[in-house]
Amino acid sequence: MVYRYRFSRPFRTDSVVCLPDDAKFFFDDVDVPFGKVSVDSGFEFKLELLDDDIVFGLGEAMGGINKRGRIYRSWCQDEPNQVEDKASLYGAHNFILVHSPSKNENFALYFDYPGLVTFDMGFTEHSLMSVRIERAALDLYVIKSESGALSDTVSIFRRMIGESYTPPFWAFGYMQSRWGYGSESDLTDVLENHRKHSIPLDAVFLDIDYMKDFRNFTVDGGKFSDFERTIRKLSEGDVHVVPIIDAGVKADVNEDSVCADGVKNGMFCRKKDGSLFSAGVWPGPCHFTDFLNPEARRWFGSFYRMFTDAGIDGFWNDMNEPALFYSEEGIKKLASNVKDAFSDEKNAGRNLWRVKDAVLAVQNSEDDYRSFYHSVDSETAGSLAESIASDGKALVRHDLVHNLYGFNMTRAASEFFSENVPDRKILLFSRASYIGAHRYGGIWTGDNCSWWSHLELCIRQLPSLNMCGFLYSGCDLGGFGSNVERDLMLRFLSLGVFTPLMRNHSALGTREQELYRFGGTEDFAAIVKFRYRMIPYIHSQFEKCVSESKMLFRPLSFDYQEDTAALEVEDQLMFGEDLMICPVYRPNATGRTVYVPEEMTLVRCGIGSGLDAGSPEKKTVGRGFHHIKCRTDQIVFFIKKGRKIPVCESAMNSAKIDTKKIELW
Ligand code: GLC
Repeated sequence: MVYRYRFSRPFRTDSVVCLPDDAKFFFDDVDVPFGKVSVDSGFEFKLELLDDDIVFGLGEAMGGINKRGRIYRSWCQDEPNQVEDKASLYGAHNFILVHSPSKNENFALYFDYPGLVTFDMGFTEHSLMSVRIERAALDLYVIKSESGALSDTVSIFRRMIGESYTPPFWAFGYMQSRWGYGSESDLTDVLENHRKHSIPLDAVFLDIDYMKDFRNFTVDGGKFSDFERTIRKLSEGDVHVVPIIDAGVKADVNEDSVCADGVKNGMFCRKKDGSLFSAGVWPGPCHFTDFLNPEARRWFGSFYRMFTDAGIDGFWNDMNEPALFYSEEGIKKLASNVKDAFSDEKNAGRNLWRVKDAVLAVQNSEDDYRSFYHSVDSETAGSLAESIASDGKALVRHDLVHNLYGFNMTRAASEFFSENVPDRKILLFSRASYIGAHRYGGIWTGDNCSWWSHLELCIRQLPSLNMCGFLYSGCDLGGFGSNVERDLMLRFLSLGVFTPLMRNHSALGTREQELYRFGGTEDFAAIVKFRYRMIPYIHSQFEKCVSESKMLFRPLSFDYQEDTAALEVEDQLMFGEDLMICPVYRPNATGRTVYVPEEMTLVRCGIGSGLDAGSPEKKTVGRGFHHIKCRTDQIVFFIKKGRKIPVCESAMNSAKIDTKKIELW
């Protein structure tokens, strides 16, 4: 059962693409099942929660698998400081699934609104959930499955939002990245070291350093004497090169041909007075393509051709919230605040803190997001249009549609690929996203840190992302910021064995974390080799989840809905149809406690016994809590009773996997 409640004339987000034949439609009707809606001042949805109610969802967010007890702001945010109480990350995924074990009932809600949505999940009042939006112009979907199974409720939603993106086969292999890689020798060094240490590898990434002065769609000739030759050389060794593309285009009409062309053809967002909006990102002041306009999408997408022609078949789209480091106006305001603060000598010490906050507020400032506009047709804009010109084009203020920006950058690239290189499957993933973007690419979870808590965070994010259609996803393995230690790197990698996107990525200035930098490299190599043994299973389960609108990662409660202990497990996941994974995410641990919801087979792999070759140790484990040994050089998982999984021999890259030599475990 799907009910759509339409309030006013919503902006057309293109998030939902297909509704069941028996869907019911309501217009400006506040009589919504389960909760109370008010449109008196903006939009508010309120729902009473019972003590044992669980609220799943919200895709990429902080907090637990159960989202209760916190406030979340759905707002694509450039957030490299992912501490515990952050309310927004890079994705905005307004899907929630409320499960009432005591009423034996569940239903899902999708708030399709492209601007800020605030979810108070029982923070202000423990037993009250409220969802607030400034403008009452949205589609609210209420979903309930006939079977009452949590997985079925999610599948109905997933069918509504369309089929998830599938990457090329090689993108299930291990990939190495680091901010700083930007030359031919960086790439060949990485490749040679992986070979030398017998670590399988499918791709190496290029970060902004390959560009000329960080300008999009340029290659620094000083770092690559012959870019195409380098790409060819790596591809002869079955290694793909994946360059980064940023959202901003350097604002320089004289020296930057992309900018000049964009200005000439009116492809960039403008301010109210018609002047071009600009804000600083890596290359300095940038203009921002109006990705909400199909013509501008086509225009931006066409620049990927220089790479696809050079043999590149993978991209990562970044800084597309969009991240705005500063604007001229923001800096002026800051300068005047600083002057004020220090003009009063008596209070200068106290005002120092005010200045610190004012400096931080320059970045990604609300004022900047409110200062530029998108030009779309008036039907798309609905009641978010601020003005409609004589040519029928409506102007919509950016902050009102902010969460669609990264989505449409991904779409720009994807539309270019499907129209221009239809015979090649291209890897594409993005940092910012909104539901709908999952049809065009995957996502990574942005700038995490080499922290144990971020390893745990990733475990919790994976099932929530899957609910929202983002199947091809993963976190920066090893952590992006901070310095990783050997133990943590191994545990990140062991989780990465199961994430479709398995990429080691780290920030400039942090400890180098290529796997061959650590002592006892054979432990790392063995874990990566194990990933390759699992690729037939991971890949076939992934494809099944795409075509059947299912989740690859599920909370235990989805498979054991009646089991009250399973309902509370947040650090183990069901994986594919047959497995349960239980990553170790604590330092100095030689194992962990695992809840086994029914009799299962424990599989323990180590070097020579499953990880890199051979067959693993197996034993039957009964229902209940168990302390399970799992050293850093081992991987433990569980197979459901009566199931078998296909495992192949390891290979040095995905092209060398022999799918005919399959063992059943
Ligand atoms: C952003 C990205 C990160 C990248 C860096 C430099 O912080 O999230 O992955 O390495 O920019 O391009």
